[in-house]
Amino acid sequence: MRILVCGGAGYIGSHTCVALLERGHDVVIGDNFSNSSPKVLARLQRITGVPVACERVDLRNRLALIRLLLRHRFDAVIHFAALKAVGDSCKRPLEYFQNNISGTINLLQAMQAANIHRLVFSSSATVYGDPEAVPVQEGARLQVTNPYGRTKLVVEQLIGDLCHSQPSFHVANLRYFNPVGAHPSGLIGEDPAGIPNNLMPYICRVAAGRSRRLSIFGGDYPTPDGTGVRDYIHVTDLAQAHVDALEYLADNGRSLTVNLGTGRGVSVLELVRAFEDASGRKVPYEIVERRAGDVAQVWADPSLARRLLGWRAQLDVDAMCRDAWRWQFMNPDGYSGRVAGTGRRPARGFAPTNGATSPLRI
Ligand code: NAD
Ligand code: UFG
Repeated sequence: MRILVCGGAGYIGSHTCVALLERGHDVVIGDNFSNSSPKVLARLQRITGVPVACERVDLRNRLALIRLLLRHRFDAVIHFAALKAVGDSCKRPLEYFQNNISGTINLLQAMQAANIHRLVFSSSATVYGDPEAVPVQEGARLQVTNPYGRTKLVVEQLIGDLCHSQPSFHVANLRYFNPVGAHPSGLIGEDPAGIPNNLMPYICRVAAGRSRRLSIFGGDYPTPDGTGVRDYIHVTDLAQAHVDALEYLADNGRSLTVNLGTGRGVSVLELVRAFEDASGRKVPYEIVERRAGDVAQVWADPSLARRLLGWRAQLDVDAMCRDAWRWQFMNPDGYSGRVAGTGRRPARGFAPTNGATSPLRI
């Protein structure tokens, strides 16, 4: 299939492009690079051996989108393009509504104009808010606690309305739990702007000596060790689920909404220890006050994705930590630093690899 990947230059989008290309699909990235770097394109080519087509486009520009979709003959769209920082969304909700909701409406209108009927949408476990029970199933009550979460829920709902009004339109709503890790090559990964909010990039930063210690938000949750529990999922497993969802839409002509997680809850302290084992680095930490808006524990029941897509997460927490650390070590300044392994010797202890991960210490 020929796929438009909106937001394909970003963290999850870039890994999904690798999975799509490796599966033989044809990919065009559409991105405004508001939270990514065009440098990812050369890295994608290094990993896959295929030059990746890319168009700079902003989802808020409906006419540009329509022109893009009419210029190509896409079979489907994967839609990653969104602003995603929870705290930031509380400070500037209108920007989030405009980018994430209006941007998606523009995309849907452009898809209608170009007669494209298949969409894979990046939703989030955030639509469950503070779930009543774990593991969370797709039928659980939906509730949101911040403007970012509201954009995900509203978009799921408006896409649902569109599917009802237009039976030929099919969507895969993929509710991600906590994506972490990086491609095993160390060439692409998560490159947060400024000081990271999320746990894994912050652990990487501490391990690299760029921050003195990790603040663990709360040690008195009703969880086995008192710290928050989440369902961390390796980004390459997540990427594969997009390929499976796309093929499901093409083969079955039916919409679906599924959780994408491992089904296993991991506490903050467990993740810190796994990271120390995988990297050989210490991660000093202190336990501080709970972070406002955090919930004690969330993990997925991923069995529906298994039944419908035949997908299940393959990689464990050790692989997540090893690959996150490899990316951090090889790219201390993310995409703005020097390009790892392009003529220069790679960092000692790390050889870029296109294959499976192997145990790694430095
Ligand atoms: P990311 O910021 O790395 O990638 C998003 C990409 O979309 C970026 O390349 C950005 O430049 C682009 N973009 C944003 N607004 C755009 C616009 N108006 N026009 C064109 N391009 C635009 O984020 P990510 O972590 O890869 O997340 C991808 C998707 O998954 C997002 O929709 C996010 O909400 C969702 N999600 C992410 C997580 C997570 O923890 N990373 C969890 C659940 C859901
Ligand atoms: N945490 C710390 N210290 C930090 C950062 C996080 O202790 O410096 C803790 C949090 O309190 C939480 C756990 O680590 O217990 C995970 O926190 P993250 O910020 O990494 O992830 P969240 O589960 O809070 O949220 C993430 C995304 C949301 C998304 C949600 C579900 O940021 O956008 O996963 O997919 F909605």
